[in-house]
Amino acid sequence: MMKVYLTFSFLLAVLLVAQAHGKEKEIGFYQLKRGNLKMNLTNYGATVVSVIVPDKHGNLDDITLGYDDIEQYKNDSWYFGALIGRVANRIGHARFTLHNHTYNLPANDHGNTLHGGFTGFGDVIWTVKAHKEDSYITFTYDSQDNEEGFPGRVEVAVTYMLLGRNKYVVKMIAKPVDKPTPVNLAQHTYWNLGGQKSGDILSHEVQIFGSKITAVDNNLIPTGKLESVKGTPYDFLEPRTVGSRVNEVPGLYDINYVLDGNSSRHLQRVATVRENVSGRKLELWSNQVGVQFYTSGMLNATKGKDGAVYDRYGGIALETQGLPDSVNHPDFPSQIVHPGHTYKHYMVYRFTACC
Ligand SMILES: *[C@@H]1O[C@H](CO)[C@@H](O)[C@H](O)[C@H]1NC(C)=O
Ligand SMILES: *[C@@H]1O[C@H](CO)[C@@H](O)[C@H](O)[C@H]1NC(C)=O
Ligand SMILES: *[C@@H]1O[C@H](CO)[C@@H](O)[C@H](O)[C@H]1NC(C)=O
Ligand SMILES: *[C@@H]1O[C@H](CO)[C@@H](O)[C@H](O)[C@H]1NC(C)=O
Ligand SMILES: *[C@@H]1O[C@H](CO)[C@@H](O)[C@H](O)[C@H]1NC(C)=O
Ligand SMILES: *[C@@H]1O[C@H](CO)[C@@H](O)[C@H](O)[C@H]1NC(C)=O
Repeated sequence: MMKVYLTFSFLLAVLLVAQAHGKEKEIGFYQLKRGNLKMNLTNYGATVVSVIVPDKHGNLDDITLGYDDIEQYKNDSWYFGALIGRVANRIGHARFTLHNHTYNLPANDHGNTLHGGFTGFGDVIWTVKAHKEDSYITFTYDSQDNEEGFPGRVEVAVTYMLLGRNKYVVKMIAKPVDKPTPVNLAQHTYWNLGGQKSGDILSHEVQIFGSKITAVDNNLIPTGKLESVKGTPYDFLEPRTVGSRVNEVPGLYDINYVLDGNSSRHLQRVATVRENVSGRKLELWSNQVGVQFYTSGMLNATKGKDGAVYDRYGGIALETQGLPDSVNHPDFPSQIVHPGHTYKHYMVYRFTACC
């Protein structure tokens, strides 16, 4: 009797552990909706899978690039909709020195580290901490000491929250537990305001509220110089189509702007994107000092959602963040966060359509 009981409770315990484990690792899709704004997200990479908003006639369409299933997300090399970390963008020579210790990181991009390494935050399974369909979803992730070479444990939480009827907020929080570490998170949604199946974004009008860029070398590593955009093909201080000068940009648009309102650390205007056929407009605010502007010049025949095929210039990414490679540029605002301190990154998107 005792033996049977023990065996039974042992089996039960195994089952419960297996279930808890399975639950933790389970990948799912989650919706947020209010009025005409609908979002689809997954805890794989804390990823935005779709954003559906009306055009000027009230017709709904999905305006983000993405995939139909998780296997494609696991195989993705474009970071469609993903939450990027521990350190977004590039780290030169895949290393940095902090407090006299040199940290060697994965070299996953021409000898440099891109978007957190081979298995960054966009390629891990997050825990769904809370979800209320008409309001918000919070994903959490516990990044371990030495994960992709970075120092110390970090507790990360990302919340996507609907605001009013045509806005949503992304709130990214990170708390180092035991060691100082660089943290620079970014949200990597690609936008096509004409609809994700509508072809290229060259006719999209873009305005970026940054009058300087972080100049880069041939491998897109910042040289340390901040250069004025005035009069150059990078000048989006006034609205202008992406296509108007794209052919003058040798590396295509893949560049970080220093935002003009940077000193406040409060929400500031980042960029506006408008597409005339649909009449859709996206406005973005953030509390970050920079924004990476990427127009997907390398996309080529990637199979996307619902039969879409994404080619060159298929989408626009506007990734707010700290200045890239700041760990190797003492002149750039520091992204080092110490235990007891909290990294906070906010983005606010507003969608309208008219005329
Ligand atoms: C969310 O996205 C996934 C992957 O594209 C898809 O399979 C699922 O049907 C979507 N859910 C909703 C409610 O749109
Ligand atoms: C995985 O991605 C590569 C390109 O990065 C593509 O060539 C291949 O077809 C993809 N595999 C699957 C199963 O989707
Ligand atoms: C780094 O090393 C230098 C020289 O050995 C020493 O003076 C300094 O205190 C060290 N800094 C830290 C943060 O440990
Ligand atoms: C912040 O913006 C001001 C202009 O508003 C600019 O002069 C300054 O260089 C910027 N700071 C950084 C760190 O880029
Ligand atoms: C889009 O519409 C606005 C307002 O009518 C106009 O000023 C602008 O030139 C148009 N842009 C394009 C690319 O057609
Ligand atoms: C896209 O890929 C095809 C096949 O690999 C290649 O022939 C073509 O030149 C590529 N196009 C661009 C724009 O890179």
